Amino acid sequence: MDSGLENVVAAETALSDVIGDIGELIIKGWYVEKLAASMAFEDVAHLLWQSAFDDLPVTQELGKRFGEARVRAFQTLPSTDDVRSVIQYLRLGWAGQQDDESLDTAIELAAGGLVYAAAGIRRFNGLSPIAPDSTLSSSADFLRMITGKAPEADKARALDAYLVTICDHGLNASTFAARVVSSTRAGLTSAVLGGLSALKGPLHGGAPGPVLDMFDEIGEPERAEAWIDAALARGDRLMGFGHRVYRARDPRADALKSAASRLPGTTGRIAFAEHIEREVLGKLRVKYPNRPLETNVEFYTAVLLEALEIPREAFTSVFACGRVLGWIAHAREQISEGRIVRPKSIYRGPLPELVEA
Ligand code: ACO
Repeated sequence: MDSGLENVVAAETALSDVIGDIGELIIKGWYVEKLAASMAFEDVAHLLWQSAFDDLPVTQELGKRFGEARVRAFQTLPSTDDVRSVIQYLRLGWAGQQDDESLDTAIELAAGGLVYAAAGIRRFNGLSPIAPDSTLSSSADFLRMITGKAPEADKARALDAYLVTICDHGLNASTFAARVVSSTRAGLTSAVLGGLSALKGPLHGGAPGPVLDMFDEIGEPERAEAWIDAALARGDRLMGFGHRVYRARDPRADALKSAASRLPGTTGRIAFAEHIEREVLGKLRVKYPNRPLETNVEFYTAVLLEALEIPREAFTSVFACGRVLGWIAHAREQISEGRIVRPKSIYRGPLPELVEA
Protein backbone atom coordinates (compact mmCIF):
# COMPACT_ATOMS: atom_id res chain seq x y z
CA MET A 1 0.00 0.00 0.00
CA ASP A 2 1.38 3.41 -0.98
CA SER A 3 -1.21 6.06 -0.15
CA GLY A 4 0.64 8.96 -1.81
CA LEU A 5 1.58 6.70 -4.77
CA GLU A 6 5.14 8.05 -4.70
CA ASN A 7 6.66 4.69 -5.52
CA VAL A 8 4.10 3.74 -8.13
CA VAL A 9 4.89 4.16 -11.82
CA ALA A 10 1.49 4.56 -13.46
CA ALA A 11 2.37 5.81 -16.94
CA GLU A 12 4.99 5.92 -19.66
CA THR A 13 5.20 9.36 -21.18
CA ALA A 14 7.07 11.08 -23.97
CA LEU A 15 6.07 14.51 -22.63
CA SER A 16 8.20 15.49 -19.63
CA ASP A 17 10.67 14.13 -17.11
CA VAL A 18 11.07 15.50 -13.59
CA ILE A 19 14.54 14.53 -12.36
CA GLY A 20 14.04 15.20 -8.68
CA ASP A 21 17.47 14.34 -7.29
CA ILE A 22 19.32 16.89 -9.36
CA GLY A 23 16.52 19.41 -9.90
CA GLU A 24 16.12 19.14 -13.65
CA LEU A 25 12.99 19.25 -15.80
CA ILE A 26 12.99 18.12 -19.43
CA ILE A 27 9.97 18.84 -21.63
CA LYS A 28 9.99 17.03 -24.99
CA GLY A 29 13.79 17.03 -25.00
CA TRP A 30 14.22 20.65 -23.85
CA TYR A 31 15.50 21.81 -20.47
CA VAL A 32 12.78 23.99 -18.98
CA GLU A 33 15.12 27.00 -18.63
CA LYS A 34 15.73 26.97 -22.38
CA LEU A 35 12.03 26.58 -23.20
CA ALA A 36 11.16 29.45 -20.85
CA ALA A 37 13.72 31.72 -22.46
CA SER A 38 12.78 31.05 -26.05
CA MET A 39 9.23 29.79 -26.55
CA ALA A 40 5.73 31.24 -26.54
CA PHE A 41 2.43 29.60 -25.57
CA GLU A 42 1.72 28.64 -29.19
CA ASP A 43 5.17 27.06 -29.65
CA VAL A 44 4.87 24.88 -26.60
CA ALA A 45 1.30 23.88 -27.48
CA HIS A 46 2.66 22.67 -30.79
CA LEU A 47 5.57 20.89 -29.10
CA LEU A 48 3.38 19.05 -26.58
CA TRP A 49 0.61 18.18 -29.03
CA GLN A 50 2.91 17.00 -31.86
CA SER A 51 2.39 13.33 -31.21
CA ALA A 52 -1.11 13.75 -29.77
CA PHE A 53 -3.00 14.83 -32.90
CA ASP A 54 -2.46 13.59 -36.47
CA ASP A 55 -4.17 16.70 -37.81
CA LEU A 56 -2.07 19.24 -35.86
CA PRO A 57 -1.28 22.23 -38.13
CA VAL A 58 2.01 24.15 -38.12
CA THR A 59 2.58 26.53 -35.18
CA GLN A 60 1.51 29.66 -37.04
CA GLU A 61 -1.79 28.10 -38.11
CA LEU A 62 -2.34 26.74 -34.59
CA GLY A 63 -1.87 30.28 -33.24
CA LYS A 64 -4.43 31.57 -35.74
CA ARG A 65 -6.90 28.92 -34.64
CA PHE A 66 -6.28 29.83 -30.98
CA GLY A 67 -7.16 33.45 -31.86
CA GLU A 68 -10.38 32.43 -33.61
CA ALA A 69 -11.28 30.16 -30.70
CA ARG A 70 -10.76 33.04 -28.23
CA VAL A 71 -13.28 35.09 -30.19
CA ARG A 72 -15.82 32.23 -30.14
CA ALA A 73 -15.26 31.67 -26.41
CA PHE A 74 -15.95 35.35 -25.73
CA GLN A 75 -19.13 35.32 -27.83
CA THR A 76 -20.57 32.59 -25.63
CA LEU A 77 -19.14 33.83 -22.32
CA PRO A 78 -21.55 32.95 -19.51
CA SER A 79 -21.99 35.20 -16.50
CA THR A 80 -20.29 32.94 -13.97
CA ASP A 81 -16.62 33.55 -13.09
CA ASP A 82 -15.66 30.09 -11.98
CA VAL A 83 -13.54 28.66 -14.78
CA ARG A 84 -14.68 25.11 -14.08
CA SER A 85 -18.34 26.13 -14.26
CA VAL A 86 -17.73 28.02 -17.48
CA ILE A 87 -16.02 25.11 -19.18
CA GLN A 88 -18.63 22.70 -17.92
CA TYR A 89 -21.40 24.98 -19.11
CA LEU A 90 -19.90 25.45 -22.54
CA ARG A 91 -19.03 21.88 -23.28
CA LEU A 92 -21.31 19.73 -21.18
CA GLY A 93 -24.37 21.77 -20.36
CA TRP A 94 -25.88 22.47 -23.76
CA ALA A 95 -28.14 20.09 -25.59
CA GLY A 96 -26.28 18.79 -28.60
CA GLN A 97 -22.81 19.64 -27.22
CA GLN A 98 -20.91 16.42 -26.72
CA ASP A 99 -17.49 16.04 -25.23
CA ASP A 100 -14.91 14.44 -27.51
CA GLU A 101 -11.19 13.86 -27.97
CA SER A 102 -10.59 16.04 -31.04
CA LEU A 103 -8.08 18.76 -31.88
CA ASP A 104 -10.98 21.25 -32.20
CA THR A 105 -11.95 20.59 -28.59
CA ALA A 106 -8.32 20.84 -27.48
CA ILE A 107 -7.98 24.25 -29.18
CA GLU A 108 -11.26 25.41 -27.67
CA LEU A 109 -10.10 24.42 -24.18
CA ALA A 110 -6.64 25.97 -24.48
CA ALA A 111 -7.89 29.22 -26.01
CA GLY A 112 -11.02 29.40 -23.86
CA GLY A 113 -9.10 29.20 -20.59
CA LEU A 114 -7.35 32.51 -21.29
CA VAL A 115 -10.64 34.22 -22.15
CA TYR A 116 -12.46 32.92 -19.08
CA ALA A 117 -9.58 33.75 -16.74
CA ALA A 118 -9.25 37.29 -18.16
CA ALA A 119 -13.03 37.86 -17.92
CA GLY A 120 -12.98 36.57 -14.33
CA ILE A 121 -10.19 39.01 -13.44
CA ARG A 122 -12.10 41.92 -15.02
CA ARG A 123 -15.24 41.06 -13.08
CA PHE A 124 -13.23 40.56 -9.89
CA ASN A 125 -11.95 44.12 -10.40
CA GLY A 126 -15.55 45.36 -10.90
CA LEU A 127 -15.08 45.86 -14.66
CA SER A 128 -16.71 44.40 -17.78
CA PRO A 129 -14.87 41.72 -19.76
CA ILE A 130 -12.98 42.89 -22.85
CA ALA A 131 -13.32 41.10 -26.20
CA PRO A 132 -10.25 39.30 -27.54
CA ASP A 133 -8.16 40.46 -30.48
CA SER A 134 -7.54 37.36 -32.56
CA THR A 135 -4.56 38.93 -34.31
CA LEU A 136 -2.46 39.09 -31.13
CA SER A 137 -0.48 36.26 -29.58
CA SER A 138 -2.26 34.34 -26.81
CA SER A 139 -0.17 35.94 -24.05
CA ALA A 140 -0.39 39.51 -25.40
CA ASP A 141 -4.14 39.15 -25.87
CA PHE A 142 -4.61 37.75 -22.37
CA LEU A 143 -2.91 40.79 -20.83
CA ARG A 144 -4.84 43.09 -23.16
CA MET A 145 -8.14 41.46 -22.11
CA ILE A 146 -7.23 42.33 -18.51
CA THR A 147 -5.99 45.92 -18.90
CA GLY A 148 -7.74 47.09 -22.09
CA LYS A 149 -4.48 48.08 -23.78
CA ALA A 150 -1.91 46.13 -25.76
CA PRO A 151 0.86 45.14 -23.32
CA GLU A 152 4.51 46.11 -23.62
CA ALA A 153 6.47 43.35 -25.33
CA ASP A 154 8.41 42.49 -22.15
CA LYS A 155 5.19 41.77 -20.24
CA ALA A 156 3.85 39.44 -22.93
CA ARG A 157 7.26 37.74 -23.01
CA ALA A 158 7.21 37.32 -19.22
CA LEU A 159 3.74 35.75 -19.35
CA ASP A 160 4.90 33.42 -22.12
CA ALA A 161 7.87 32.43 -19.95
CA TYR A 162 5.43 31.61 -17.14
CA LEU A 163 2.94 29.62 -19.24
CA VAL A 164 5.74 27.69 -20.93
CA THR A 165 7.52 26.94 -17.64
CA ILE A 166 4.44 25.36 -16.08
CA CYS A 167 2.97 23.68 -19.19
CA ASP A 168 3.81 20.14 -18.09
CA HIS A 169 5.44 18.38 -15.15
CA GLY A 170 5.37 14.60 -15.19
CA LEU A 171 2.63 12.79 -13.34
CA ASN A 172 1.70 15.57 -10.93
CA ALA A 173 -1.65 15.35 -9.11
CA SER A 174 -3.74 17.31 -11.64
CA THR A 175 -2.18 15.57 -14.64
CA PHE A 176 -2.81 12.21 -13.03
CA ALA A 177 -6.43 13.25 -12.42
CA ALA A 178 -6.77 14.28 -16.08
CA ARG A 179 -5.29 10.94 -17.19
CA VAL A 180 -7.65 8.96 -14.95
CA VAL A 181 -10.67 10.80 -16.37
CA SER A 182 -9.51 10.43 -19.97
CA SER A 183 -8.87 6.71 -19.45
CA THR A 184 -12.63 6.29 -19.02
CA ARG A 185 -13.04 7.84 -22.52
CA ALA A 186 -15.07 10.69 -20.96
CA GLY A 187 -13.51 13.20 -23.38
CA LEU A 188 -10.98 16.03 -23.24
CA THR A 189 -13.29 18.57 -21.58
CA SER A 190 -13.98 16.17 -18.75
CA ALA A 191 -10.27 15.39 -18.43
CA VAL A 192 -9.48 19.12 -18.18
CA LEU A 193 -12.21 19.60 -15.57
CA GLY A 194 -10.64 16.77 -13.55
CA GLY A 195 -7.24 18.44 -13.83
CA LEU A 196 -8.63 21.83 -12.81
CA SER A 197 -10.32 20.43 -9.73
CA ALA A 198 -7.11 18.76 -8.54
CA LEU A 199 -4.99 21.82 -9.36
CA LYS A 200 -6.84 24.26 -7.16
CA GLY A 201 -5.86 22.68 -3.80
CA PRO A 202 -3.36 24.63 -1.68
CA LEU A 203 -0.89 21.70 -1.72
CA HIS A 204 -0.76 21.88 -5.54
CA GLY A 205 -1.64 24.85 -7.77
CA GLY A 206 -3.38 26.83 -5.05
CA ALA A 207 -0.07 27.75 -3.37
CA PRO A 208 1.05 30.99 -5.12
CA GLY A 209 -1.79 33.23 -3.85
CA PRO A 210 -0.96 32.30 -0.22
CA VAL A 211 2.74 33.08 -0.94
CA LEU A 212 1.71 36.73 -1.34
CA ASP A 213 -0.44 36.49 1.80
CA MET A 214 2.72 35.35 3.60
CA PHE A 215 4.66 38.33 2.18
CA ASP A 216 1.91 40.68 3.40
CA GLU A 217 1.84 39.17 6.87
CA ILE A 218 5.62 39.40 7.17
CA GLY A 219 5.54 42.98 5.89
CA GLU A 220 9.13 43.98 6.74
CA PRO A 221 12.27 41.87 6.22
CA GLU A 222 13.16 42.18 9.94
CA ARG A 223 9.92 40.40 10.85
CA ALA A 224 10.56 37.39 8.64
CA GLU A 225 12.44 35.26 11.15
CA ALA A 226 9.88 35.60 13.96
CA TRP A 227 6.98 35.03 11.55
CA ILE A 228 8.55 31.87 10.11
CA ASP A 229 9.41 30.52 13.56
CA ALA A 230 5.82 30.99 14.68
CA ALA A 231 4.40 29.38 11.54
CA LEU A 232 6.66 26.34 11.85
CA ALA A 233 5.92 26.04 15.57
CA ARG A 234 2.20 25.90 14.71
CA GLY A 235 2.99 23.11 12.22
CA ASP A 236 2.03 25.22 9.20
CA ARG A 237 3.38 24.41 5.77
CA LEU A 238 5.16 27.32 4.19
CA MET A 239 3.78 27.91 0.73
CA GLY A 240 6.24 27.78 -2.14
CA PHE A 241 8.56 25.26 -0.44
CA GLY A 242 8.88 21.49 -0.55
CA HIS A 243 8.01 19.07 -3.30
CA ARG A 244 7.05 15.46 -3.68
CA VAL A 245 9.70 14.73 -6.29
CA TYR A 246 12.43 17.39 -6.05
CA ARG A 247 15.19 16.84 -3.51
CA ALA A 248 17.04 19.79 -5.05
CA ARG A 249 15.83 23.22 -6.06
CA ASP A 250 12.87 23.20 -8.48
CA PRO A 251 14.42 24.51 -11.74
CA ARG A 252 11.22 26.36 -12.55
CA ALA A 253 11.76 28.67 -9.56
CA ASP A 254 14.84 30.22 -11.15
CA ALA A 255 13.32 30.30 -14.65
CA LEU A 256 10.48 32.41 -13.21
CA LYS A 257 12.72 34.52 -11.00
CA SER A 258 14.78 35.42 -14.01
CA ALA A 259 11.63 36.23 -16.06
CA ALA A 260 10.41 38.48 -13.21
CA SER A 261 13.79 40.21 -12.94
CA ARG A 262 13.57 41.29 -16.58
CA LEU A 263 10.41 43.31 -15.83
CA PRO A 264 10.88 46.93 -14.78
CA GLY A 265 10.23 47.79 -11.13
CA THR A 266 10.68 44.29 -9.68
CA THR A 267 14.10 44.68 -8.03
CA GLY A 268 12.77 45.57 -4.56
CA ARG A 269 10.14 42.84 -4.52
CA ILE A 270 12.61 40.21 -5.66
CA ALA A 271 15.09 41.29 -2.96
CA PHE A 272 12.31 40.96 -0.35
CA ALA A 273 11.34 37.52 -1.71
CA GLU A 274 14.97 36.40 -1.67
CA HIS A 275 15.29 37.46 1.94
CA ILE A 276 12.24 35.44 2.98
CA GLU A 277 13.41 32.51 0.89
CA ARG A 278 16.82 32.46 2.60
CA GLU A 279 15.21 32.60 6.04
CA VAL A 280 12.70 29.84 5.25
CA LEU A 281 15.30 27.52 3.74
CA GLY A 282 17.56 28.01 6.76
CA LYS A 283 14.72 27.19 9.16
CA LEU A 284 13.53 24.18 7.17
CA ARG A 285 17.09 22.77 7.16
CA VAL A 286 17.17 22.98 10.92
CA LYS A 287 13.70 21.49 11.40
CA TYR A 288 14.12 18.70 8.80
CA PRO A 289 17.86 17.93 8.69
CA ASN A 290 17.29 14.66 6.84
CA ARG A 291 14.67 15.84 4.37
CA PRO A 292 15.75 18.40 1.74
CA LEU A 293 12.95 20.95 1.39
CA GLU A 294 13.73 23.54 -1.26
CA THR A 295 11.99 26.40 -3.07
CA ASN A 296 9.33 25.24 -5.53
CA VAL A 297 7.81 26.83 -8.63
CA GLU A 298 5.03 28.60 -6.72
CA PHE A 299 7.33 30.96 -4.81
CA TYR A 300 8.51 32.96 -7.82
CA THR A 301 5.22 32.38 -9.66
CA ALA A 302 3.75 34.69 -7.04
CA VAL A 303 6.41 37.35 -7.68
CA LEU A 304 6.06 37.15 -11.46
CA LEU A 305 2.25 37.16 -11.65
CA GLU A 306 2.09 40.00 -9.14
CA ALA A 307 4.46 42.01 -11.36
CA LEU A 308 2.05 41.37 -14.25
CA GLU A 309 -0.71 42.93 -12.10
CA ILE A 310 -2.72 39.75 -11.95
CA PRO A 311 -4.71 39.54 -8.70
CA ARG A 312 -3.57 36.72 -6.39
CA GLU A 313 -7.10 35.30 -6.37
CA ALA A 314 -6.62 34.47 -10.07
CA PHE A 315 -3.16 32.86 -9.85
CA THR A 316 -4.49 29.31 -9.97
CA SER A 317 -6.67 30.09 -13.00
CA VAL A 318 -3.62 31.47 -14.82
CA PHE A 319 -1.66 28.36 -13.84
CA ALA A 320 -4.45 26.29 -15.40
CA CYS A 321 -4.20 28.33 -18.63
CA GLY A 322 -0.67 26.96 -19.13
CA ARG A 323 -1.06 23.49 -17.63
CA VAL A 324 -4.11 22.78 -19.81
CA LEU A 325 -1.67 22.13 -22.67
CA GLY A 326 -0.05 19.34 -20.67
CA TRP A 327 -3.35 17.91 -19.45
CA ILE A 328 -4.56 17.58 -23.01
CA ALA A 329 -1.32 15.97 -24.24
CA HIS A 330 -1.40 13.51 -21.33
CA ALA A 331 -5.10 12.78 -21.85
CA ARG A 332 -4.40 11.87 -25.48
CA GLU A 333 -1.40 9.76 -24.45
CA GLN A 334 -3.54 7.91 -21.91
CA ILE A 335 -6.26 7.31 -24.50
CA SER A 336 -3.69 5.73 -26.78
CA GLU A 337 -2.79 3.32 -23.93
CA GLY A 338 -6.32 1.99 -24.33
CA ARG A 339 -6.76 0.93 -20.68
CA ILE A 340 -8.91 2.36 -17.92
CA VAL A 341 -6.91 3.39 -14.81
CA ARG A 342 -8.21 1.26 -12.00
CA PRO A 343 -5.90 0.54 -9.01
CA LYS A 344 -6.75 -1.70 -6.08
CA SER A 345 -7.57 -0.93 -2.46
CA ILE A 346 -7.32 -3.00 0.72
CA TYR A 347 -10.61 -3.39 2.58
CA ARG A 348 -10.26 -2.44 6.28
CA GLY A 349 -13.99 -2.15 7.06
CA PRO A 350 -16.13 -4.46 9.20
CA LEU A 351 -16.84 -8.01 8.09
CA PRO A 352 -20.52 -8.83 7.35
CA GLU A 353 -20.55 -11.42 10.19
CA LEU A 354 -19.68 -8.65 12.67
CA VAL A 355 -22.22 -6.19 11.26
CA GLU A 356 -25.03 -8.75 11.37
CA ALA A 357 -24.17 -9.98 14.89
N1 ACO B 1 6.64 23.88 5.02
C1 ACO B 1 6.83 23.26 6.21
N2 ACO B 1 6.97 21.92 6.34
C2 ACO B 1 6.93 21.20 5.21
C3 ACO B 1 6.75 21.77 3.95
C4 ACO B 1 6.60 23.17 3.88
N3 ACO B 1 6.41 23.78 2.72
N4 ACO B 1 6.75 20.79 3.01
C5 ACO B 1 6.92 19.64 3.68
N5 ACO B 1 7.01 19.89 5.00
C6 ACO B 1 7.20 18.90 6.06
C7 ACO B 1 6.00 17.99 6.15
O1 ACO B 1 5.00 18.50 7.00
C8 ACO B 1 6.62 16.70 6.67
O2 ACO B 1 6.77 16.86 8.06
P1 ACO B 1 6.44 15.68 9.09
O3 ACO B 1 7.36 14.57 8.72
O4 ACO B 1 6.73 16.31 10.43
O5 ACO B 1 5.01 15.34 8.88
C9 ACO B 1 8.02 16.72 6.06
O6 ACO B 1 8.29 18.07 5.71
C10 ACO B 1 8.16 15.88 4.83
O7 ACO B 1 7.12 16.22 3.92
P2 ACO B 1 7.11 15.57 2.47
O8 ACO B 1 6.99 14.09 2.56
O9 ACO B 1 8.28 16.10 1.75
O10 ACO B 1 5.83 16.22 1.83
P3 ACO B 1 4.94 15.68 0.63
O11 ACO B 1 5.76 15.07 -0.44
O12 ACO B 1 3.85 14.86 1.19
O13 ACO B 1 4.29 17.06 0.15
C11 ACO B 1 4.11 19.20 -0.76
C12 ACO B 1 4.82 17.85 -0.87
C13 ACO B 1 2.59 18.99 -0.75
C14 ACO B 1 4.46 20.06 -1.97
C15 ACO B 1 4.59 19.89 0.54
O14 ACO B 1 5.97 20.14 0.47
C16 ACO B 1 3.82 21.19 0.81
O15 ACO B 1 2.74 21.15 1.39
N6 ACO B 1 4.38 22.38 0.38
C17 ACO B 1 3.69 23.64 0.59
C18 ACO B 1 2.62 23.85 -0.49
C19 ACO B 1 3.21 24.16 -1.84
O16 ACO B 1 4.11 24.98 -1.98
N7 ACO B 1 2.66 23.49 -2.86
C20 ACO B 1 3.07 23.67 -4.25
C21 ACO B 1 3.88 22.50 -4.73
S1 ACO B 1 4.43 22.73 -6.40
C22 ACO B 1 3.06 22.37 -7.32
O17 ACO B 1 2.27 21.54 -6.98
C23 ACO B 1 2.82 23.10 -8.55
